[in-house]
This record gives sequence, C-alpha cells and structure tokens, in this order.
Amino acid sequence: MGFFFQALQRATGIAAEPPKDRVRETVTVQDANVTALLYPGERGKPATQVPNKRQVHWVVPPENLVAVLHPPVMESSLMAQEQCRILRTRLLEIMRTRKLRSLMVSSAMSGEGKTMIACNLAYMLSQLEDFRVLLVDADLRRPQVVRFFQIEAAAGLPTVLTNGDAWEDVLWQVNPNLDVVPSVGHTEHSAELLHGARMEGLLRTVSELYDLVILDAPPLYPVADAQVLAPQVDGAILVVRAHSTPAEMAQQAAALLQKKLVGTVLNGAERIAHKGYYQHYLRRGSSR
Ligand SMILES: Nc1ncnc2c1ncn2[C@@H]1O[C@H](COP(=O)(O)OP(=O)(O)O)[C@@H](O)[C@H]1O
Ligand SMILES: [Mg+2]
Repeated sequence: MGFFFQALQRATGIAAEPPKDRVRETVTVQDANVTALLYPGERGKPATQVPNKRQVHWVVPPENLVAVLHPPVMESSLMAQEQCRILRTRLLEIMRTRKLRSLMVSSAMSGEGKTMIACNLAYMLSQLEDFRVLLVDADLRRPQVVRFFQIEAAAGLPTVLTNGDAWEDVLWQVNPNLDVVPSVGHTEHSAELLHGARMEGLLRTVSELYDLVILDAPPLYPVADAQVLAPQVDGAILVVRAHSTPAEMAQQAAALLQKKLVGTVLNGAERIAHKGYYQHYLRRGSSR
C-alpha cells in the first residue's frame, strides 16, 4: 500500500484500497454548485482585536457556500453540507493529537476544488463557538477567494508580501469568527514571495492569534508555489477531483506533501450513500 493510501486511511479511519484507475471516495463534497443562502448570524466573540476590519456584507449570498444553509434547501446542498461537517469533525480529531495551527488546502492541479473546500471548511469551522479562523488566499496566480466570498478588495496578500504592508490593513471580516486575508490580481514571482521572510513572519504571527489558519494554496504542479509553502505550515489537505485527477498524479502530490499531509478530500464524487435518509430529512424539514 502506497503512502497516499496509508495517509488516506489514517485521515479517515477507514480502510482504503488503492484504486484501479481513479481515486475512490473518502470525503465527498457533492454537487456544491447550488445557491446556498447565508444568514449573517452574530455570534461568538470577536476573532481578533484588529481594529477597523472591513466587513463583508452580502446582498446575494455566495454561490457554493454550502457550509450554511437556509430554506429552500436542496438535497444536493444538504448532502454537501453534511460532507463539510464530516470534514470539520475529522480535522478537529486530528487537531486533538497533533499541533495544527496552519493548514494548507492544495491539490495536484488547478480546478480541483481547493478554493471551494478551503472556503467551506473555514466557514464551517467558524460556526463553532469561540473557534477563530483566518482564511488566507495564498494562490497568488489565480486568487479566487474574493470571488467566492464576494469581497471587493483592492489589496491583499501580494501587497503585504511585496511592499511589507501590515496584514491587518488588508483584513476582511466575514463573521465574528472568520477573517480573510484575500489576494487580488495575478502575481508573478509568487514562489519567491511565498518563500520569503515576510510570509514566514506572517504565518508565525497569525498562528498565534487564530485557532486555525487555513491557506487556500496554489496547486502542487506545474509550478513550485505550493511546494515552497508546504514546509511553512503544520499540515496539508490534498483535494482530489473525482473522475478527473489521475490516481498517479494524486499519489505524486501526496508524496510531495510527505508528513505534512493530514488528509485527503475526494471532491465531486457521485452520490451513493444514504439517499433515503436525506430525502426523509428533507420531507420532514419542509413539512414544518
Ligand atoms: N463539488 C463540486 N461541485 C460542483 N462544483 C464544484 C465542486 N468543486 C468545485 N466546483 C467548481 O469547480 C470550479 C473549480 O473549483 P475551485 O475551488 O475554484 O478549484 P481550485 O481552487 O482547485 O482551482 C469552480 O467553478 C467551483 O465552483
Ligand atoms: Mg483556487
């Protein structure tokens, strides 16, 4: 059994057989491409004492944010939310036994769902009482967190790393437990920036201030960006897109992350289990 599947087994606690072709299911966020409504619930205590954080206000809630649902709830988004909750639970289990203050979400290639998972996971964790989360968009070549969370940022991580601007100056608050350091534009020389002393200093600082810092990381291929990030974080989640990522590539990506790999997420697998349960649940929900 290769390293990838050992890691997968460790992360999920279930036996995982190497796939013949594509990677099999572990944790699945299914059909998340639905509109999920979000209520701006005021709860918890302020994430940090950073003054003048810009607030995110949604007129239309972000598409794909399945971590919080509001009626009418579609079955697919309910299932996706449940998978996010499972992912959160497994992550918290891991955090009980190993130091994990910074976590990067990466994948072999782009388009596998890193941003989708990172944003939903960050949001889902922020729903825990007194659990402070910072989401950092570290994909400097293709930053998408602003689009996902509808943040109209003019500056972000690139200006912090390039000009030495204070990270607090580019900070946005999504809810009392969730802050975001966004990225904007397209940054060349991103590997150098992510490898520099400023990034290291930033991670050291924010790891002390938040319960978990999640980095929406660049892909591991074809450039070195994510590979320079891996040594700087405590752990990494590898996102694998079902029916898309070749198993060999996923294995290579897992091998690159080595001991930093705390788990894998198979994104977009077809729905298989417990359909009846969800239908039952939905029927009950709609009759209230
Ligand atoms: N499970 C899913 N169901 C439906 N659409 C998804 C799912 N995961 C990702 N997507 C969509 O696929 C595209 C790529 O996802 P994204 O998170 O931006 O990938 P990455 O960050 O790895 O480049 C986005 O349009 C996203 O909304
Ligand atoms: Mg992305």
